[in-house]
Amino acid sequence: MTRTVYVNGEYLPEDQAKVSIFDRAFLMADGVYEVTSVLGGKLIDFDGHAVRLQRSLDALDIRNPLIRAEWLEIHRALVTQNGIEDGLVYLQVTRGAPGDRDFAFPPADTPPTVVLFTQNKPGLADTPAAKVGIKVISVEDLRWARRDIKTVQLLYPSLAKMMAKKAGCDDAWLVEDGAVTEGTSNNAYIVKGNKIITRDLSHDILHGITRAAVLRFAREAQMEVEERAFTIAEAQLADEAFITSASAFVMPVVEIDGVALGGGKPGLVTARLREIYLDEVRKAAI
Ligand code: PDD
Repeated sequence: MTRTVYVNGEYLPEDQAKVSIFDRAFLMADGVYEVTSVLGGKLIDFDGHAVRLQRSLDALDIRNPLIRAEWLEIHRALVTQNGIEDGLVYLQVTRGAPGDRDFAFPPADTPPTVVLFTQNKPGLADTPAAKVGIKVISVEDLRWARRDIKTVQLLYPSLAKMMAKKAGCDDAWLVEDGAVTEGTSNNAYIVKGNKIITRDLSHDILHGITRAAVLRFAREAQMEVEERAFTIAEAQLADEAFITSASAFVMPVVEIDGVALGGGKPGLVTARLREIYLDEVRKAAI
């Protein structure tokens, strides 16, 4: 089945979808994106992603070309037309294609480019990695200083991911001034006793939608949450570690820079959080 994608108001087969070579995202990474997961044919935390999209657009002074109801309609149409039971919806909004290259922004009436597509991932919530955990390495965080804006400027995270793969690991935790900021495409956590520790919100990290939900559920379940920076050395001494993102949900980390945590097996707190998270977001899915 050919995938149907959405480009600037049209639903098209993926091989007929086109974006200009002058698009600001192509030339300058001048665009933002969101990834929303789909479980059982329904969208997980759609409103969280819609709110963050607006925040990213506002931060870069890009006009939001659609209202919430339109975004929702497109997400749902793509999920239905592509028969997605479990998977992801990717959306990207760019500053548009002014027809030439210039560092200055194009005229304010240049329409933003809007692209959405689905990724089919059957059994997304039952991936074997959730049972065995993932291994991470640490690498220096060389990204720009506004990581709270979800831009398509993903070269360094991609390079860091490849460094991890080359080292026989699954992902990299990024380290700045001696402390972990986050993973290449996820937020990072450690668990010590009954306490969940994750970096506090600032310009240094993406304000994860999964992070917000997981911390809320953890607090509701009487778990202690501490939002502060931690080092790789502290993480290596933790009882458990995990990451969160819209595509990984809550994913155990069992090795950091070659040091095994919890005997190299996913921990109980992580497993419980994953279960609570998936139960709750499935109930609230739309
Ligand atoms: N990445 N930190 C970074 C740098 C990310 O790229 C992401 C998401 C997260 C987690 O955010 P959320 O819980 O809202 O997905 C944290 C997406 C999934 C991606 O780039 O594919």
